[in-house]
Amino acid sequence: MIQTNDHGPTFNLVAENTSYVMSVVGGVHLCHAYWGPRIDRPDPEQLILLDSRSNMVSEEIDPDLAGRHHRFWRAPKESLSDRRQKPPDNRLAPDRLAREYPFEGGGDHREPGLRVRHADGSTTSRLIYAGYEILDGAAGPEGLPYVSDPPEECRTLRIDLDDPVSGLQVSLHYLPLPSLPVILRWARIRNRSTVAVEILRAASMSLDLPAMNADVITLDGAWIRERIAHRRPLRPGVQSVESRGGASGHQHAPFIAVADGEAGEETGGVWSTSLIYSGNHRHLVETDQFGGIRLQSGINPSGFAWNLPPGEAFDTPAAVLVHSSSGFTGLSDAHHRFVRRWLFRKDWRDRDRPVVLNTWEAHYFDVDADRVAGLARRGAEIGAEVLVLDDGWFDGRIDDTKALGDWTPDPGKFPDGLAKAAEEVRRAGLEFGLWVEPEMVSPRSRLFDRHPDWVIGAPGRDPVLARNQLVLDLGRPEVVDHLLETLSTLLSSAAVSYVKWDMNRNIVETPGPEAMHRYMLGLYRLWRTLVRRFPKVLFEGCAGGGGRFDFGSLAFMPQFWTSDQTDALERQRIQFGSSLLFPPESMGAHVSAVPNHQVGRSTPPETRGLTALAFNFGFELDPSKASDEDRRVFARLSELYKAKRSLFRSGRFLRFLPRRGPSFDEGRPEHHAWAVIGPEGRELMVFYFAALAQPNDHGFHLRLRGLDAGARYRDEERNVEFDGAVLMARGLWLPPAEGDYRSAYWILTKSP
Ligand code: DGJ
Repeated sequence: MIQTNDHGPTFNLVAENTSYVMSVVGGVHLCHAYWGPRIDRPDPEQLILLDSRSNMVSEEIDPDLAGRHHRFWRAPKESLSDRRQKPPDNRLAPDRLAREYPFEGGGDHREPGLRVRHADGSTTSRLIYAGYEILDGAAGPEGLPYVSDPPEECRTLRIDLDDPVSGLQVSLHYLPLPSLPVILRWARIRNRSTVAVEILRAASMSLDLPAMNADVITLDGAWIRERIAHRRPLRPGVQSVESRGGASGHQHAPFIAVADGEAGEETGGVWSTSLIYSGNHRHLVETDQFGGIRLQSGINPSGFAWNLPPGEAFDTPAAVLVHSSSGFTGLSDAHHRFVRRWLFRKDWRDRDRPVVLNTWEAHYFDVDADRVAGLARRGAEIGAEVLVLDDGWFDGRIDDTKALGDWTPDPGKFPDGLAKAAEEVRRAGLEFGLWVEPEMVSPRSRLFDRHPDWVIGAPGRDPVLARNQLVLDLGRPEVVDHLLETLSTLLSSAAVSYVKWDMNRNIVETPGPEAMHRYMLGLYRLWRTLVRRFPKVLFEGCAGGGGRFDFGSLAFMPQFWTSDQTDALERQRIQFGSSLLFPPESMGAHVSAVPNHQVGRSTPPETRGLTALAFNFGFELDPSKASDEDRRVFARLSELYKAKRSLFRSGRFLRFLPRRGPSFDEGRPEHHAWAVIGPEGRELMVFYFAALAQPNDHGFHLRLRGLDAGARYRDEERNVEFDGAVLMARGLWLPPAEGDYRSAYWILTKSP
């Protein structure tokens, strides 16, 4: 809901139980006023603190505007004037002003949202409020992912800011989601002058929160340890995360949050932003000289510039803004519901996800028709529903040194072609899936021989190889067209119902500062067209594991290979952190062989299975190498997954341990526990993982949440019943672990 009033004007974006308030100060400055629990009568003079002075510079506002300020200051409220002297009419301290889209050259020396080089070389801009409009529907940024199939009642608020000197116009777009505490925000920058300008920085969102005792939450790591949750105290200056390699990256998820110091899994305020974008990003929190907190996210300005000719516009990616007043569970609830209803393509929104058996850790590059058929047969015995033929199937691909770009089957490995291989897989009762890495080319490939100039790189320099491969320049329309045709032919050549889309290196050098973003626009055109052409195909995103797992990719591909890390313990941490953003059914989680291929650890089959169960369950092993007993465990867990998968993809995902949420990054946590709980708390499944057995352990109680306090809950398997109120007040007793790497689960159903 968008409420407006003439006091300023003032805008109140009501999203579920939250309000996001902006007000125009002095008829000129669009300022952020408030973001938090819903308020219905926002008073800008109570919400916005104005100062005439701050420090050293930045006191004088453009004298031309003084008259308009005067109007604002004519009747200041007591609450403002009792704290300090009434500012003189033409003075405001810009570095105390909470501009909704801060710009360079306006006296605010914090991180700007906008930085533009004008034709005369100056980078000074002044954005002045110019008006607003409420638009029907969900207008999104051109060529970039946004929401899918928005409901009719959606309204978008567009607020225009003008720079009268340069002729630049910035239009801020806001979409408050009707039944979620989520606001989507993006900006359009239009050049209304007669000369070109260069955009050097264009944030998707920026806003200023008042000073508070708070922590910064980020999801960081590296390949095979992605998205580990970190919680650090807010400190003076800038704390930021970013990516520079042309993808959202293994190192930092495109996300940052401010959590009040008391926030935990169940309680406390959290404010977050996360881009619907898969390229270079920067997310930051800045604490200014007075303790004020700036939250900002957008395309990474490092290495970025965009030439904007007269008459043209540049759209930023959209940011997903969430406010939770119920801690990290409220945050992930909002993200999960957003992804499920607003981001997933309609075709995959309410669909159960199949059990995948992937060939990678079973055979690596050594795949052929017999092995694929054999895996499919043995996969059927442990409950697999799709056999995904990973890397190694195409012409000449015996290792990672060649053949990327030549997307035809290797005649030695698949003499009867892919159609026949798919047929064999289907004969075993499974669907057939195929791995591709279309954005890449090997220097030893037919494609590279034909089009060496299609590779992205810097003029006059040899491109840097990574994993023996180069990146195709998707910023060039002819490259995207070629990939569209090649992939369309490939996907029509056999009964392919599942595609795993990989991307195993980052971009290093580029022809210029626009290249990285043009690459993303090309990639999104490719994905958009392909998923429209093949709506029944389930696309799984992957980038060396979870190297490009973000809201931008999820708009096209409803699930991701979360990480190349398949060890149960390591996965628990990765899935824990990832669950702040992504719903469980979007996270590929496969049971692999032991000793684990990444860390050499051997964990029991049950623990490997339960670690994966509530997610997008599957296998990454050769079942014939597992013991009969292990295979029985795998088959039993597949059955359990199938029985409960609709609960997993629609229920609330609750994290219980560690208790304070993402605060455990130093050192390994001993335990993890999570649950998925269905509508009205009717059914829930609780999972508990204990890393190392503790001496003289007597177990402990795990306090559950989200149950019906007045109901009784039955555990059919153990033949016991619990009182809902007691489960929430005292908890479910977890027995001591007998041995290392143990796990347990409980299925509780509300008694009628
Ligand atoms: C990286 C992926 O994450 C793996 O699952 C596998 O597909 C390999 N690439 C294949 O090269």
